[in-house]
Amino acid sequence: MAPRQRENWGTRLGIIFAVAGSAVGLGNFLRFPGQVCQNGGGAFMIPYFISFLLLGIPLCWIEWTMGRYGGRYAHGSLPGIFDAVVQRPWAKYAGVLGLFVPLVIFFYYTYVESWCLAYSVFSLLGSYAQIDKPEQMQAFLSAFQGIGSGGKFTSIGVAYGFFLLTFVANMVVIYVGLARGIELLCKIAIPVLLVAGIVLLLRILTLGTPDPNRIDMNITHAYGFMWNPNFSVLTQPKVWLAAAGQVFFTLSVGLGAIMTYASYLRANDDVALSSTTAAGMNELFEVIIGGSIVIPAAYLFLGPEGTLEAARRGTFDLGFVTMPVVLNKIPFGEIFGFYWFFLLFLAGITSSISLLQPLVSFLEDEFGWDRHKAAIAIGIFCFVISHACIFGLGAGVLDEFDFWGGQLAISICALLEVLIFLRYMGIERGWRELHRGADVQWPAWLRYVFVITAVYLGAIIMYWAAFEWLPWIMKPFGYLVTMGLPPHWRAAPVQPAILWTRAGLLLMLLVLLALVRLAWWRRARRAGGAA
Ligand code: PHE
Repeated sequence: MAPRQRENWGTRLGIIFAVAGSAVGLGNFLRFPGQVCQNGGGAFMIPYFISFLLLGIPLCWIEWTMGRYGGRYAHGSLPGIFDAVVQRPWAKYAGVLGLFVPLVIFFYYTYVESWCLAYSVFSLLGSYAQIDKPEQMQAFLSAFQGIGSGGKFTSIGVAYGFFLLTFVANMVVIYVGLARGIELLCKIAIPVLLVAGIVLLLRILTLGTPDPNRIDMNITHAYGFMWNPNFSVLTQPKVWLAAAGQVFFTLSVGLGAIMTYASYLRANDDVALSSTTAAGMNELFEVIIGGSIVIPAAYLFLGPEGTLEAARRGTFDLGFVTMPVVLNKIPFGEIFGFYWFFLLFLAGITSSISLLQPLVSFLEDEFGWDRHKAAIAIGIFCFVISHACIFGLGAGVLDEFDFWGGQLAISICALLEVLIFLRYMGIERGWRELHRGADVQWPAWLRYVFVITAVYLGAIIMYWAAFEWLPWIMKPFGYLVTMGLPPHWRAAPVQPAILWTRAGLLLMLLVLLALVRLAWWRRARRAGGAA
């Protein structure tokens, strides 16, 4: 079989927008403000920027560099890229995480993305316009998700409909392809996001003091509430862990998705400057825009206690309970609500398509399938598995997917990337590779940062394992392990749904491993036959 012509990006700016599109997502507008609020306000920015510089940027450099390198050998997904770099039989199996993690994240991310689409329509229709209490809004959300009664919805039907729409939209973009699908969408979406974000930000900034009886709840105090630093948190490991986790998630690094995008570059296209630019764009959306909307808006209407409470209840509450309540209190709230949720939806879809492309690329490059066939196969597979997240939401399936994919496997995959880069590409060759065809020359001493990245990441993973992973892993077995070493065990009910979910995830990992094996076996046979 003749080597197929791989796709290429249309323009230089195209891939930067595509990578920024992957990075800018729900993490920027919902997860980030919640994390800042819970972890010391402005003081959180110290561990955050340290993680950004020591973990985020080096991982971006590694992903872009190894991705473009893999593309030269017609590999666009982690099994093939690791194989090309390491040249040992085990490497392709280690790369299976680069298929597993994006898939697992895709299943729940797309479902949440579909809530954003639904809420943007609800805003326009005024479906939640009469609700002014967080508890009632919570009931609205639960009824919509099909896990609670007492709201407007009697079944999960509406949520399911919006999921279908969102799912099909994702698949269409992938089906259409790289330049005419992903690139085009991101080139439109990123500027729209910027404008919509700034409009919302200005609206919040000009709200002044909405409640004349509470002059303390004004916009200056709102920003102070979000950003005033509480430096005492810096001694808590949990804050450093939260910062590292946020940096990974927001930059979309550690799972090979950016590598796949970079594999479609030409051998001498710049990566050194483009990678850094895309990461910088993400920070603009995260710190400036994401940091100025949800929390200050919540503070103006709910005050300090209400906001803190909402932030503690997490990302979903801030997005789908607090924000709708707040938007209802703003003049033209329907329009701003539509703006807000549509912004989230757009940010979401440019991220979720990047989770599919590694698999598309795997089927194309390693099995020789064409894009359309790959997209259809992936569509059917993902459609079936997504149902676990949709109907198992109440049983905690979504959280389980998030834990295994979005927290545990992603960190291990990131560590593998750094170690493989250091050991098999080597600092000197890796640095040269990063600068091949580059539009910028970073100071040479910076090349040692990768060693710091490996050590820092290793240390963080050990902490995560002890403080966060172990308690989580033991939970469904009838034990609760409370934070702190040595662990304190406490009896809790066994949760069969969670155990089934884990068995399912394990099965998926095994299937992917088998696919990798099959692909290489077929290739060896073909090479043998040709000889
Ligand atoms: N970066 C995205 C966000 O901030 C999430 C994401 C993670 C997307 C990993 C793709 C890959 O929401």
